[in-house]
Amino acid sequence: MKVEEFGLTKLAEMIYSYCGIDYRRDISALGSKIKERLNALGLSSWEYCGYLKVEPNEWDALIELITVNETYFFREENSLEEFQKVILPQYVGHTPQNPLLIWSAACSTGEEPYTIGILVQQSGLFSRGAVKIIATDINKKALYKARSGLYKKKSLSFRRMPPEFYDKFFIEFENYYKVKESIMEMVEFKHMNLLDDKLREKMGKVDIIFCRNVLIYFDDVAIKKIIDAFYDILNPGGYLFLGHAESIIHLKTGFKVIYTPSTFYYRKGEKV
Ligand SMILES: C[S@@+](CC[C@H](N)C(=O)[O-])C[C@H]1O[C@@H](n2cnc3c(N)ncnc32)[C@H](O)[C@@H]1O
Repeated sequence: MKVEEFGLTKLAEMIYSYCGIDYRRDISALGSKIKERLNALGLSSWEYCGYLKVEPNEWDALIELITVNETYFFREENSLEEFQKVILPQYVGHTPQNPLLIWSAACSTGEEPYTIGILVQQSGLFSRGAVKIIATDINKKALYKARSGLYKKKSLSFRRMPPEFYDKFFIEFENYYKVKESIMEMVEFKHMNLLDDKLREKMGKVDIIFCRNVLIYFDDVAIKKIIDAFYDILNPGGYLFLGHAESIIHLKTGFKVIYTPSTFYYRKGEKV
């Protein structure tokens, strides 16, 4: 093994144990993603492993390079429809003093939590402040954009946006649309690593979790760790939405899968 490969292998292992993202079988892809960063710092991949230990803030720069942040409003609308029509009505009665808590667990640049907010408001089932959306991600740059609520008009963020929603839920600026304040005020953004050993303490309890299109980057060991934490964080009978390409039915968990003609999702059952 060449020295550079040795460094990248070590780095892939460090990344895996830090945040679950698994480059261990594709170290050349990892090499391409961090090449410019290594050049800028004047370090080899092996030296970079040591640098991460003495400069923990460097993890933020690395995470920006290795995460895939693709997302858009109204992604995977079949499960969103189920959420709005079937799940939300079950939670009617929540109040600002006892809000319904929904967690968007890998929210990227915010399109997912704002979509959830739009669906909640559009349902007309809850008064102002009766639903709180906690939106978290490991990528600080993505969170910074998410907090702004600003999206370029021509961006792919709007590729599945129902046309009638622009006027209702966005304010138009020159080249941008900004999410309206009534939606933004529902969402609280926080920096969070899903592999954090203290995830349970940091998140407390929630009623519904969306964790879509992130588990595809993890192996079963990391997925099981995250799903077990989700199980504990969810209130009894709580719901879990994963991406359509992500299934946990082969893992031993306490979740029951609910199939509908167009989608599937999970409900917290008895612990196994
Ligand atoms: C492809 S985006 C998915 C966004 C959105 N959930 C959706 O379905 O459109 C995946 C996100 O997972 C985040 N991510 C990756 N590993 C993570 C981890 N260990 N903890 C928290 N977020 C993570 C990335 O930063 C990225 O923003």
